[in-house]
Amino acid sequence: MSNFFNNKRVWITGASAGIGAAIAKEMAVHGAQLVLSARSETELQQVATKCRELGAGIVIVQVMDLSRHDQIPQLVQNVLSKVGKVDILINNGGISQRALAKDTSLEVDKKLMDVNFFGTITLTKALLPSMLTHQLGHIVTITSLTGMIGSPFRTSYAASKHALHGFFDSLRAEVHDSSIKVTLVCPGFIRTNVSINALTGSGEKLGTMDDATNKGMAPERLARKILRAIENGRQEVYFGGKEVLAIYVKRFFPALFAKILTRAKVR
Ligand SMILES: NC(=O)c1ccc[n+]([C@@H]2O[C@H](COP(=O)([O-])OP(=O)(O)OC[C@H]3O[C@@H](n4cnc5c(N)ncnc54)[C@H](OP(=O)(O)O)[C@@H]3O)[C@@H](O)[C@H]2O)c1
Repeated sequence: MSNFFNNKRVWITGASAGIGAAIAKEMAVHGAQLVLSARSETELQQVATKCRELGAGIVIVQVMDLSRHDQIPQLVQNVLSKVGKVDILINNGGISQRALAKDTSLEVDKKLMDVNFFGTITLTKALLPSMLTHQLGHIVTITSLTGMIGSPFRTSYAASKHALHGFFDSLRAEVHDSSIKVTLVCPGFIRTNVSINALTGSGEKLGTMDDATNKGMAPERLARKILRAIENGRQEVYFGGKEVLAIYVKRFFPALFAKILTRAKVR
């Protein structure tokens, strides 16, 4: 890879674990300056230490709860006062679901939307004026294959990720003339704690690793692919194993896909 990321200011949400931590470390190897956000400060500090060892320029930890929308604009001002501008925002923080719709309380449906959709767009909208002023920026959002297709046990999770596609496809057109890029990354099964942290119908953490997730792509490999997609200015990318084919089956054979989905091994 070129020195594209060297000294770029990159803000990553969900950086305390999994995909976000892997992206942070890969960015560090390429000399980026990092702002790392999530709720768990201790884990963020551990990732920050590793990123410094790997070669990141400056690393700032900014604790942020994506469900506390009222706090986000002030946190953005805090970060901007320290780094001046953000070249690349990576909206990665999120939470999944493992429960049938009939067993999922409305509170859990709302929480999934609050974190995955409203948290992400609140942060993006708070940072956008600065990007517009500088006529520069790249907004990268990690959605999911479930942002393109449905999946049992993930009704509101899928809804929150589909909503992100609607928002960011529209935003891409709005900011085109301001040289701001928008990339949507749709991973399949990636080996992280996503299922362990996923919400059950009552809002408890599931606490167990899905077989499909356990057999998924390593987050470090995904991170390398994401960096390449950013450097190449890709608008939408799908990464994972053979589950990625689902997007094309749905696109070209929607009735067949609907049938397959009733039997698919999604856990
Ligand atoms: N793993 C997969 O198979 C897969 C597939 C497709 C898409 N994705 C997406 O990839 C992203 C990262 O997931 P992952 O697989 O790395 O899962 P993970 O290991 O559970 O990590 C989730 C990250 O999001 C943060 N987060 C959760 N709730 C938050 C909140 N309310 N406010 C701020 N940060 C919050 C967590 O940090 P704290 O708990 O410290 O806040 C953590 O850093 C998610 O958006 C997920 O939907 C994952």
